[in-house]
Amino acid sequence: MAIERTLSIIKPDATRRNLTGKINAKFEDAGLSFIAQRRLRLTREQAEAFYDVHKERAFFGELVDYMLSGPVVVQVLEGENAVAHHREVMGATNPAQADEGTVRKDFGVDVQENSVHGSDSVENAAKEISFFFSDAEIVG
Ligand code: CMP
Repeated sequence: MAIERTLSIIKPDATRRNLTGKINAKFEDAGLSFIAQRRLRLTREQAEAFYDVHKERAFFGELVDYMLSGPVVVQVLEGENAVAHHREVMGATNPAQADEGTVRKDFGVDVQENSVHGSDSVENAAKEISFFFSDAEIVG
């Protein structure tokens, strides 16, 4: 299996409840390594640009407001098959449908406040990583 990198975001519902360490432990326990990490408040421009793919969806406005409602932690994770593996550890988008032991099952509130984001393909991971990090900030 290939060593990949993926972009992960710990979302405001999780930072608000002080869950960053518990979520990070799940990723590390699954064999994923943090090679970059930063806590920040997104600007409206950043949130709208990051989720541009969803701009026609009914939930877009609410999604952007939610992502601005508190700090997020953006992070680059590296490991074998990291894009798919990270998505397995996150669980289904809707926490009610997520498998036992996944981040969203254990910590997600609802389909919007689902605690974490992860890239959905290697191609999008590269784009999303460069959205937040310069090469110099990534230490593998
Ligand atoms: P994420 O994986 O970051 O990708 C898009 C986000 O939109 C998703 O997680 C949720 O936070 C949110 N989302 C997806 N579907 C819905 C929905 N049906 N209603 C509200 N928010 C949603």
